Amino acid sequence: MSEPASDGPMVAVEGLTRTYRTGRIEVPALRGASFTIPAGELVAVKGRSGSGKTTLLNLIGGLDSPDAGTVRVGGQDVGGLGEDDLIRLRRETIGFVFQSHGLIPVLSAAENVEVPLRLVRMAPAERAERVRLLLALVGLDEHAEQRPYELSGGQQQRVAIARALANRPRLLLADEPTGQLDSETAGAIMPLLRAVVQSEGVTVVVATHDQTLLGMADRVLDLSDGVITEAAPAVP
Ligand SMILES: Nc1ncnc2c1ncn2[C@@H]1O[C@H](COP(=O)(O)OP(=O)(O)OP(=O)(O)O)[C@@H](O)[C@H]1O
Ligand SMILES: [Mg+2]
Repeated sequence: MSEPASDGPMVAVEGLTRTYRTGRIEVPALRGASFTIPAGELVAVKGRSGSGKTTLLNLIGGLDSPDAGTVRVGGQDVGGLGEDDLIRLRRETIGFVFQSHGLIPVLSAAENVEVPLRLVRMAPAERAERVRLLLALVGLDEHAEQRPYELSGGQQQRVAIARALANRPRLLLADEPTGQLDSETAGAIMPLLRAVVQSEGVTVVVATHDQTLLGMADRVLDLSDGVITEAAPAVP
């Protein structure tokens, strides 16, 4: 697994610009977004629908390339990586939680969490142990054998979080992880992310509209008109 490449910030975004072109229409999603996130922080990115949150997370995670600007993750220039290094970055350094959980329907909760561990060829015994630990971490040890459709929405999202954490990523990117959930179920996700920051030492960037989630973040970044501003700290 990759080691920290520097003592600098976990994420450093500088002048990030991304414009989508569909036919003759240009949609500027990001217009020079800049910010840094130190290791170990839980940062929320808020902004109205269409403000560029998903675009930003995709660029940080190397799923998309910017038109201008740079993204550094653990000191590595994501835009400068070749395809193999990008794949390694996404597999070993970054964990993704998407808005819809993206679990594989025919696999049990445990098997879904195991997928990324198979990809890095972890030995079976070690794999089983890691899966057990992760499911316990998200409070689903009793539900290991259930398939996604046999789990509630909140439980599915917790499996997705466990899966994203499987390879001990240093950075967890979560795109509206509570978007599909009622507020009570959603309220349980953020404490879980908090616990994970602590127990796994991971840095978290979460895109959300959810007030409860925003209130629990170390810092809130406001994305508006394609630029980032630091939101006023939440009243405790
Ligand atoms: N693949 C694409 N092609 C063209 N335009 C796109 C594409 N993806 C996003 N956009 C546009 O870019 C802008 C930012 O989209 P993005 O998905 O990043 O917003 P968001 O903040 O994640 O919104 P939401 O809260 O609804 O998820 C929007 O205006 C959207 O229509
Ligand atoms: Mg989005």
